[in-house]
Amino acid sequence: MVQEGHELKHLKVDLIRFMMAYKFALEEVNTKFHILQEEFQYMHEYNPIEHIKSRMKSPESILKKVKKKGLELSIPSIQHHIRDIAGIRINCSFTKDIYEICNMLTSQKDITLIEVKDYIKNPKPNGYRSLHLIIQVPIFMSDRVENVYVEIQIRTIAMDFWASLEHKIYYKYNKDVPSKLKEELKEAAEQATLLDQKMEKLHMEMDNIKAKDSI
Ligand code: GTP
Ligand code: MG
Repeated sequence: MVQEGHELKHLKVDLIRFMMAYKFALEEVNTKFHILQEEFQYMHEYNPIEHIKSRMKSPESILKKVKKKGLELSIPSIQHHIRDIAGIRINCSFTKDIYEICNMLTSQKDITLIEVKDYIKNPKPNGYRSLHLIIQVPIFMSDRVENVYVEIQIRTIAMDFWASLEHKIYYKYNKDVPSKLKEELKEAAEQATLLDQKMEKLHMEMDNIKAKDSI
């Protein structure tokens, strides 16, 4: 009985420390984005990051994913296989900003780039577009360093608008979206891309006019 209580206490400490590492990783990466945002604005009088949102996966959804993927239910197994416990979503104004932000972050010395999924160059069949990164960031704890995975999704405002509606529809129809609606969603994704291209072109023209005026 005493032994069991002792083990339970250890398990609780381990679990809390495990979740803490992800919270610290989110804070660390959030700060990095805020620095980029503020410094870029100062240097270029322009803000490439419109919005930053972060979230932690709840213990319930971590367990759900463990079951779905048939993983072993242990802290090391979760640490190794579930790489989206800490997630950050960045909204940019223009597509070219997405790649610039990605390069600025991943060229930082303490960031290890683990995986890139470029759903902008290769959109998903449903029309989804976004740049996904899995990175690792070191977290300095009192007695050790933990390399923690963080999932980063970088997309334009138009891509984000589309993705949030698509997500709602997907769940409303319990993942079985009628084909007519699927087609329309895909069409909407293409229109969002056209809007992104048009806005980027207008922005470039504005910059050119500004440059000429200042000569
Ligand atoms: P998960 O194991 O479900 O996280 O997917 P994955 O490992 O194949 O990763 P992927 O990079 O494809 O997707 C990760 C996350 O991106 C998802 O959890 C969603 O938040 C988002 N995402 C990916 N595909 C879609 C999509 O078709 N529509 C929407 N709305 N979001 C998507
Ligand atoms: Mg995920």
